[in-house]
Amino acid sequence: MLRPEEEAFLLSTTGLTDVDALKTLIRSVQAEATEAFPYPCIRRFDFVKLKISRLPYYERLMSLVKSDPNALLLDIGCCFGNDVRKVIADGYPAENIIASDLRPEFWNLGHKLFKSDPGTFPVTFLPGDVLDTTFIGTASPVYGAPCTQRPDLRGLHKLAPLTGHLRAIHASDFFHLFTEANQAAVARALGALLSPARGSMIFGTHVARPNKGLRTEASPPAPGYLGNRMFCHDAQSWTELWDGEVFQKGTVRVEAQVVEQAREVLVVLKPEVTFYQLIWCVTRL
Ligand SMILES: C[S@@+](CC[C@H](N)C(=O)[O-])C[C@H]1O[C@@H](n2cnc3c(N)ncnc32)[C@H](O)[C@@H]1O
Repeated sequence: MLRPEEEAFLLSTTGLTDVDALKTLIRSVQAEATEAFPYPCIRRFDFVKLKISRLPYYERLMSLVKSDPNALLLDIGCCFGNDVRKVIADGYPAENIIASDLRPEFWNLGHKLFKSDPGTFPVTFLPGDVLDTTFIGTASPVYGAPCTQRPDLRGLHKLAPLTGHLRAIHASDFFHLFTEANQAAVARALGALLSPARGSMIFGTHVARPNKGLRTEASPPAPGYLGNRMFCHDAQSWTELWDGEVFQKGTVRVEAQVVEQAREVLVVLKPEVTFYQLIWCVTRL
C-alpha cells in the first residue's frame, strides 16, 4: 500500500516509529473517511500518497515559489491535505497555501492522521462547494492588474476574494467529479482566481478518455463512484476548454496528455477495460 518514500514521509510527519502503529492509524482514519463519503480515492489510500510530487509539473511549482516566495497556492479538493503537506516539506511556505474542500471532515482527519492542529499546521483551510458562486465568485479571468488588494488569508472565508491573486492551483482527481457543463463552470471560476502574472499555473490529473464522452466502459454508478455516468475530457477538448473558452485564445499554454492508468491503483475496475488519466498544466503567458 505504501511506497518506501511515502512510509518515510508519514513516519517523519506523524512522529511514529512503529510501522504497524502507522498502518493501524491509516486504517482507522480510512474507516472514518469512508463513513463520511466512500470515494474510490479513499478506498485506494490516496490520502497517504505523495502523488503531487510525481506530476511532471511539480518542479515548475517549486521553481515558481523560489522566484516568487510570496506566491499563493490553492489545493482545490484537498481531501486530507497530504499533497500540501508534501509541498511544505519540500520548502513551500505553509502561510501562503490555501486548501479547500467540500468536506471539512477529510481535512480534520488529515490533522488526526498527521498528528497536527491548526496551530502546528498553519495552512488556511476553506470549507466550501466550488459550484456555489457565493463561495468561489463570479469573476472573469484577470488580464491587467487585479482590482483588489491581496487578501489577508487569516480573515478569509471564501475563495472569491482571491480573484487574480493565486500563482498556482493544484486540482487532482477533482474535475471528473462534475458534469461536462460543471467542469467548464469550475474551470472558469478557478481561471478567474489565477494571477495574470506570467508563469501562473493550474495543474493536476484526473480521469480521462482518448475520446471525450461518458466513461461507458465503466461499471454502473455505486455509492461514492460515478462509474459509467462520469464525463471525461480528452486532451484536445481539455486544451480547447482552457485556451479559448476559459482564457482568451493564445493567452495560455496548455499541456495535456492522456495516459493509461496503472491497474494496481484502480479499485473498481472491470478486468477487460483500460482506464485513462489526463495529466495537465495550464500556464499563463
Ligand atoms: C477524489 S478526491 C481527490 C482528493 C485529492 N485531490 C487527491 O488527488 O487525492 C475529491 C475531493 O474533492 C472534494 N469535492 C467533491 N466535490 C466538491 C465540490 N463540489 N467542491 C469542493 N470540493 C469537492 C471531495 O470532498 C474530495 O476530498
